[in-house]
Amino acid sequence: MSHRILLLGAPGAGKGTQSKLLADAYGIDHVTTGDALRANKDMETEYGTPRSFMEAGELVPDPVVNEIVKVALEEADGFVLDGYPRNLSQAEYLSEITDLDAVIFLDVSEEELVGRLAGRRMDPETGEIYHVEYDWPEDEAVQERLVQRADDEEDTVRERLRVYRENTEPVISHFRDRGDLVEVDGEAPPEEVFERLKAVIEG
Ligand code: AP5
Repeated sequence: MSHRILLLGAPGAGKGTQSKLLADAYGIDHVTTGDALRANKDMETEYGTPRSFMEAGELVPDPVVNEIVKVALEEADGFVLDGYPRNLSQAEYLSEITDLDAVIFLDVSEEELVGRLAGRRMDPETGEIYHVEYDWPEDEAVQERLVQRADDEEDTVRERLRVYRENTEPVISHFRDRGDLVEVDGEAPPEEVFERLKAVIEG
């Protein structure tokens, strides 16, 4: 059975980590606006490059992001959507282009979010995500090439959390008010969180 899953959560809640696991487990696409924008950060648009917004911790303008999501969902036979919608206007657009089977909010405290983002490292060759405390690679060659995401610097993290509270929390409330939202406690080791998500999706 194909699944159409929306995974919501604050920056650092573990959306990327869990989306990859879910995509592998169910053989569906991982549709992530963050990765798509990072892969095209110097693309010229009428609003400027995605990079200029991302490195400031601001949202990339809706028309750019909406188009990325529309194309990706059209091509997908089942998906887990991560990083979108981030404001009510994107939520409205999403409801016009697809139905959803599950809307899940990964709940993580702000203190934990800041620790996760500060310790996150990325392998520029594979895109694999690690953490200096929770998930450090054994291979020394990999360790040496890990980089910190530009928007994981402390000031930018603070701005991303502010933008999340202002723009994205209303999206969470919107789904909660409609009775569509399932909330999952995201403060546990990744494999435990994954089991909780599977229980929701399969239950
Ligand atoms: P995006 O890439 O979507 O960033 P985000 O939402 O801020 O989410 P993150 O990738 O920071 O966190 P995550 O929840 O995926 O956590 P992860 O699994 O990596 O967006 C970046 C930017 O792009 C935005 O600021 C904006 O500019 C732009 N953008 C994107 N979408 C947009 C949209 N729709 N509209 C407009 N602009 C958009 O985990 C974090 C760390 O914690 C990792 O190190 C991981 O190893 C560790 N970790 C994960 N799970 C656990 C666990 N259970 N226990 C301990 N550690 C864990």
